[in-house]
Amino acid sequence: MNFQWYPGHMAKARRMMQDDIKLIDVVIELVDARIPLSSKNPDIDELAKNKSRVILLNKYDLAEPKYNEQWKAYFESKGYFVTLVNSKTGVGVKKVNEIVQEACKEKIERDRKKGIINRPVRAMVVGIPNVGKSTFINSFAGKASAKTGNKPGVTKGKQWIRLSKNIELLDTPGILWPKFEDQAVGLRLAFIGSIREEILNILELSLELIKFLHENYIGCLAARYNIEEADDPVQILSSIAERRACRIRGGFLDLNKAAGIVIDEFQDGKLGNITLEFPNKM
Ligand code: G4P
Repeated sequence: MNFQWYPGHMAKARRMMQDDIKLIDVVIELVDARIPLSSKNPDIDELAKNKSRVILLNKYDLAEPKYNEQWKAYFESKGYFVTLVNSKTGVGVKKVNEIVQEACKEKIERDRKKGIINRPVRAMVVGIPNVGKSTFINSFAGKASAKTGNKPGVTKGKQWIRLSKNIELLDTPGILWPKFEDQAVGLRLAFIGSIREEILNILELSLELIKFLHENYIGCLAARYNIEEADDPVQILSSIAERRACRIRGGFLDLNKAAGIVIDEFQDGKLGNITLEFPNKM
């Protein structure tokens, strides 16, 4: 399967982020808990050099708890400050404040020694499209927060949201693009809906997903669709089509329709908590 790219947008977003990063102390990077590595762009390591780093495993509600913990430990072992977040419901969001302070402890201490006290740390949110940046900012900022307005020396139009007396957040997130060159990464991004549907072959995609689920989460398709899970993905999809009465004229099975159902239901979390890449295999 081939995926398309838009280098123009990417270059512009990267330039903007380069400018914004100069203004901040800590980068809050959102990754998707179902694909923590595939939803991460290593460019951020270069861009955020010398900044404190926080990773949020967002959408953890859709991933498998056991792997959420393993991924948390994985990133912590690489020196990040990490926490699990469900930005949609707000679960885990409160903890982010604490993690950010921890990540900035050395900086706060340096400031204190220079006699600067109570200067809020400045943070920005970054992540790939659709990872939940806007949802997170809304949840993190909440209703109580106040926009602090433009600051002298800050590019006109930049808005800082005062989250507490300790944190100011840049209201615009930085957009990173995932590394699509790797087809396995592209496939995982497509599974979670991070690639525009128009450029995907849904039938092929769903067969790949079914193959993955059958190998790693055996029984989840059988349970959801009340089918026998055969070893052949086409056979599984046909059984799903039959169960869901997906038919075209002449009574033939409509595999495309069934494929769309499987992808949609997976993305909605209806097939259960599923992680698509595992730290011990990386
Ligand atoms: P972005 O700014 O990074 O592009 O992402 P955005 O916040 O627009 O979020 C993309 C989608 O992910 C949204 O769903 C949002 O509700 C969902 N989302 C964000 N965080 C979480 C989370 O922690 N858990 C779950 N389950 N979903 C999350 P949507 O389909 O665009 O809209 P809707 O489903 O909210 O109607």
